[in-house]
Amino acid sequence: METPTNVTIKGILGILMASLDEENKKRVISLGMGDPTAYSCFTTTDVVQDSVAQTLESQKFNGYAPTIGLPQTRKAISEYLSNDLPYTLSPDDVYITAGCTQAIEVTISILAKPNANILVPKPGFPIYELCAAFRNVEIRHYDLLPKKGWEVDLNAIDELADENTVAIVIINPGNPCGNVYSYQHLKKIAEAAKRHKILVVADEVYGHLAFGENPFVPMGVFGSMVPVITLGSLSKRWLVPGWRLGWFITTDPNGIFKNAKTVERLKKYFDICGGPATFIQAAVPRILSDTKEVFFARTIRLLKQSSDLCFEKLKGIPCLTCPQKPQGAMSVMVKLNVSLLKDIRDDIDFCFKLAKEESVILLPGLTVGLKNWVRITFAAEPSSLEEALDRVKSFYQRHSHQQKVQNDLIL
Ligand SMILES: *Cc1c(COP(=O)(O)O)cnc(C)c1O
Ligand SMILES: *[C@@H]1O[C@H](CO)[C@@H](O)[C@H](O)[C@H]1NC(C)=O
Repeated sequence: METPTNVTIKGILGILMASLDEENKKRVISLGMGDPTAYSCFTTTDVVQDSVAQTLESQKFNGYAPTIGLPQTRKAISEYLSNDLPYTLSPDDVYITAGCTQAIEVTISILAKPNANILVPKPGFPIYELCAAFRNVEIRHYDLLPKKGWEVDLNAIDELADENTVAIVIINPGNPCGNVYSYQHLKKIAEAAKRHKILVVADEVYGHLAFGENPFVPMGVFGSMVPVITLGSLSKRWLVPGWRLGWFITTDPNGIFKNAKTVERLKKYFDICGGPATFIQAAVPRILSDTKEVFFARTIRLLKQSSDLCFEKLKGIPCLTCPQKPQGAMSVMVKLNVSLLKDIRDDIDFCFKLAKEESVILLPGLTVGLKNWVRITFAAEPSSLEEALDRVKSFYQRHSHQQKVQNDLIL
C-alpha cells in the first residue's frame, strides 16, 4: 500500500476507515478523532440546547450579524475570559469566528507578510501548517519535550527565532499530548516571546479542561508582558463542536495591536469571513452565564476517569509507552516501539493493520509531526476505551517477536 504522508487528520482517518475489513465482525471503535460527541457520555447540557432553541424560535436572529460578531456575544465572551485575567477585556477585543478553526485561519492570515515565519509545536495541530501553506507563511517547528511533561523546548525558541519571526503558537491544554502548563512555564514562554519581540498565539480551545496537578492558566495572564492572541470556542468545553462558535481575542492590555492599526486590518478581514449562524451567536450570553458548574465538573470527572483508564491499560501493552500521564484535553501521545513487533514498519503501518485486524482506529503520530508515535483520544466511553485497548493488546501479542518464539516452542 502507498504510504500516505502529509495528509490531514480527517484525511487519514477517512483512509483508515475505508481500509476496514468488511468481513471483520468487530464493532469499529475510533479513538482517532477529536470529536467527543461520538460517545453518548459526552453530551452537552440542557441549558445550552435551550438557549439556542430560544434564540431560534424568537425569530429575532434570522438576519446577518455584524461581521465581527453580535455585540452582546462579544461582551459576554469578554466577561467570561476576564474572570481568569488580572485585567478586564473589552468587547472590542473579541471577534466571533466559525469555531476555533477559523480563528486559526484569521490569525495566520493577519500575521502573513513577505518572509514571515511562525513557531509552532511539534507534535502539534496540523491546521496551523495547512493555513500557513496557503498564506505562504513559513513554519518553524519547536519541540515539545516528552520527558518534561511536553513542555516547550525554550532553547529551541532562541535558536529558531529571527527578525522575520512574528509569533509563537502554544496549545494549552494540549492537543495531541494532554499537557497542562504551569504558571511558571507559561511565564518563561512569555519572557522568550518578549525577548524576540514576537507575539504569542494561545490556542486555548481546551481551556479549563484540566484534571491533573496544574490548574489551567490562560496565557492572557501575561498579556501585559507580551501581546497575546487567544483562540477558543464552545466546541470542547461545551461539547458542541458542530455549532462552529469560536473566538479570536486580542489579549493585549497595552494596546499594541491597536497602535499598529491591526484592528483596522482585522475588521476588514472579517468582512470576508462568514462567522457562525446569528442565532447561535445570540445564545452565547445565556450559555456562558447559565451553564452549571456540575456540568463542567462532570466532564472533567469523565475525562480524568478515561485518561486514567487509558494510562493503566497502556502499561500492559509493551510496544506503546506513555511518557507522561495526561493532565488535560482529550488525547495522549504514546511512543511506538516497532522493534518489538515482527512485521510492523512504522506508525502508519501499525495504525492500518490495527484498523484492519481489530477495527480500532488510532491516529498515526506522523500526522501530528512525530513518526513512530501514536495519538490516542481518550474522550470515549470507558467500556469502549477498555475494549479498544484490549484489542490493541491482542494485536501486539499476535505481532510481537515473543509470539513467534512461543509458537516455535509449541511446534
Ligand atoms: C479542536 C481543535 C481546534 C478546532 O476547534 P473548533 O472549534 O472545532 O474549530 C483548534 N485547535 C485545537 C488544538 C483543537 O484540538
Ligand atoms: C524497544 O524495545 C527494545 C526491546 O525491549 C529495547 O531494547 C529498546 O530500548 C526499545 N526502544 C525504545 C526506543 O524504547
